[in-house]
Amino acid sequence: MSNFNKDGLGNILFVAIAVCLVCSIVVSGAAVALKPAQMKNRELDQKQNILRAAGMLPADSNVAADGRGVEELFASFTARAVHLDSGEYANDIDASSVDPIRAAKDPAASRDLDDGEDIATIGRRENVSVVYVMEGDDGIEKLVLPVRGYGLWGTLLGYLALDGDLETISGLGFYDHKETPGLGGEVDNPKWKAGWVGVRLYDDEHNPSVDLVKSRSAEGNPAAAYEVDALSGATFTTRGVENLVNFWTGELGFGPFIKNLRAGA
Ligand SMILES: Cc1cc2nc3c(=O)[nH]c(=O)nc-3n(C[C@H](O)[C@H](O)[C@H](O)COP(=O)(O)O)c2cc1C
Repeated sequence: MSNFNKDGLGNILFVAIAVCLVCSIVVSGAAVALKPAQMKNRELDQKQNILRAAGMLPADSNVAADGRGVEELFASFTARAVHLDSGEYANDIDASSVDPIRAAKDPAASRDLDDGEDIATIGRRENVSVVYVMEGDDGIEKLVLPVRGYGLWGTLLGYLALDGDLETISGLGFYDHKETPGLGGEVDNPKWKAGWVGVRLYDDEHNPSVDLVKSRSAEGNPAAAYEVDALSGATFTTRGVENLVNFWTGELGFGPFIKNLRAGA
């Protein structure tokens, strides 16, 4: 006992390694144990974002006016994988396995967009995406689409919801963006978001025609049906949002799928 030297190099190294080992076991144990809870929270968050875009959940609460919670509300939606080029359901693909953003980074699972096509400035578009469909007795009541596009500082990620007629917007919401609070960040302002409800999406030739404008057309002017207020002091974000909505509802986005649904396919 008398020749035990606690300040010896060997002892210091032993204690340091033992502490590192114990800490790494605790940290990795916690990471493994918390993984299911993290996944569940991420899933819950995604469901909330979809429900908020669809106007079924208030921005500041996880309970709807009728008392229904997220899981109960989301149960009325079915997630389906969709081949974007053909606009057909990908019945052989489990929608929960589809990650559109990751797929867009994989050349084997996406296509390159040239400058003329890429109005949303996303670079590549995934071949298969996912849609959230709410059906009632008379067919589709809501359709929610994942959308994304570049603003001023980065890519805005969100959901666009359509009414059962598949040509009227029922809501738009972004769950991730890098725009400046008070300027482009006003995309999160509930007052601005309310301006999307009821806006018409397609013109008579089925071209996406949403128009973000500094001053609205007079009531009665057919153009007014397609208009949403521009964000003041945020022209780049405004253009980005207009372009991404028109891209994802157009021929290179969910346009073929929406056409198929309208034709009853
Ligand atoms: C610090 C800073 C942050 C800005 N953030 C944004 C933004 O998030 N979105 C945007 O479109 N413009 C942003 N702008 C403004 C643009 O640079 C540009 O001036 C503006 O889009 C012009 O819009 P207006 O024609 O509506 O005034 C920012 C400017 C500064 C100086």
